[in-house]
Amino acid sequence: MAENDVVTRSVAEGREEYWEHWYARRSSAGQARPVPSQFAAFVVGELDGPHDIVELGCGGGRDSLFFASYGHRVVGVDASAAAVSSCEQLADGFGVDARFVHAAVDDPGLPDRVGAPQHPRAVYARFFVHAITDEEEERFLDLAARLTTSGDLLAVEYRTIRDRSGEKETGAHYRRFVLPARFQSRALERGFDVEYDVEGFGFAKYRHDDAYVARTIFRRR
Ligand SMILES: C[S@@+](CC[C@H](N)C(=O)[O-])C[C@H]1O[C@@H](n2cnc3c(N)ncnc32)[C@H](O)[C@@H]1O
Repeated sequence: MAENDVVTRSVAEGREEYWEHWYARRSSAGQARPVPSQFAAFVVGELDGPHDIVELGCGGGRDSLFFASYGHRVVGVDASAAAVSSCEQLADGFGVDARFVHAAVDDPGLPDRVGAPQHPRAVYARFFVHAITDEEEERFLDLAARLTTSGDLLAVEYRTIRDRSGEKETGAHYRRFVLPARFQSRALERGFDVEYDVEGFGFAKYRHDDAYVARTIFRRR
C-alpha cells in the first residue's frame, strides 16, 4: 500500500466517525423543516426549469429537501449512514419526494446508483469540497464529468485558503482549505467552463463563523 493510501484511510476513518456522531445526535424526529443554505437559495434561482440534482455530501438534507420541494428530481449522496437515514426520515416526515444514497464520492458503483437523468442535470456540492481530501476532490470532479453532458451544471461552494484563520462554529474535524485556481483548472480539464464565480465573506455566515468561500457555477462544454 502506498504511503498516501495510509494517510487517506486514517483521514477517512476519523472523518466518518465525526460525521456519524454529528448526524446521529441530531435526530430528525419532530424536527422543524430545515432552513436551506443561502447557496441553495441562490442556485435554485439560477435553474431554468426542472433539473435532476445530485447533491454530494448532502449531510442533514436541508438543501436536497429544498430543491425537491421546488419540483426538481433530487438524489442526495453522503458517506455517513446516520446522515442518510436522517434525510430519509425528514423527506418522509415532510412528504418530500427525494432519494438518498449512502456512498462515498469515490465509490465506483455510485453513477449506477444515482441512475439516469430525466431533465438537464446539476451536480451540487455545498461545504463538501473542503470536507474531502485532495485526491477525493479529483474523484469528485471525475464523477461530476461522468454524470453530466453538454449544457449541464456543476455548482460548488467551499472554504478557500483565505478562510484558514477565521473563527469556526463547528468543532475540530477534517477540513481542507481549497485553492480556487487549482479547483477551477481541474474542472476545466474535465470539460467544465466557469459561468459564474465569486469569492468573499458574507455568503455563508453561520453565527460567529463568517466563512471566506468561493461559489462557482460551471457549465459543461
Ligand atoms: C460540512 S458537511 C456539509 C453538509 C451539507 N452539504 C451542508 O452544507 O449543510 C460535509 C458532508 O460531507 C460528507 N462527506 C465527507 N466525506 C465524504 C465522502 N468522501 N463521500 C461522501 N460524503 C462525504 C459528510 O458526511 C458530511 O455530511
